[in-house]
Amino acid sequence: MSNDASRILTQLREDHRNMMLLLEMIETEANRLYRDEAVDLDLAHDIMIYMTTYPDAVHHPKEDRLYAELKAARPDLSQGMSKISAEHRSIAEKGLELRNSIEQVVVGQAERPNAVVANALRYVDALRSHMHWEEHDLFRRVELMIRDGHDVLDKAVFVQAPDPVFGPRAEQVFARLFDRIKKAR
Ligand SMILES: [Fe+2]
Ligand SMILES: [Fe+2]
Repeated sequence: MSNDASRILTQLREDHRNMMLLLEMIETEANRLYRDEAVDLDLAHDIMIYMTTYPDAVHHPKEDRLYAELKAARPDLSQGMSKISAEHRSIAEKGLELRNSIEQVVVGQAERPNAVVANALRYVDALRSHMHWEEHDLFRRVELMIRDGHDVLDKAVFVQAPDPVFGPRAEQVFARLFDRIKKAR
């Protein structure tokens, strides 16, 4: 796959749109759980398996690499962006925690469902504001780097893996989630 930064940016923005949709779905289920209404925990769990499988393992490492390129090529533009890796680690930790706490509810071992609600809303807020920051700051700086002629990143090795839900072929393990997304659109 081509290593040009503009293509990577296009993919990252598409990932963000997909994640935004999934976060809305998680938020809806968390609010239902809070109000003691019927909750689709399998859906919430499927989403968290996806979040900890693709965004944490492919999307965020790609951004870390892009930031490293920006820092190397345009240190003037990379000022103040170093929090990115710490945010990715924190999002991955929160994601795993949420995934585990949903599993506890599924098997009926959760002591306080509201702790799951709080975990879910914290996760949604953290990831939304992280993506907002990337879109409105980091990605714009990368665009400046591209505009100034640094687009082809010859030596950069990006983690490449197809999106198992939104990619060219949905993986079998995500078939149920894929169907729900089709209906939600
Ligand atoms: Fe990110
Ligand atoms: Fe991102």
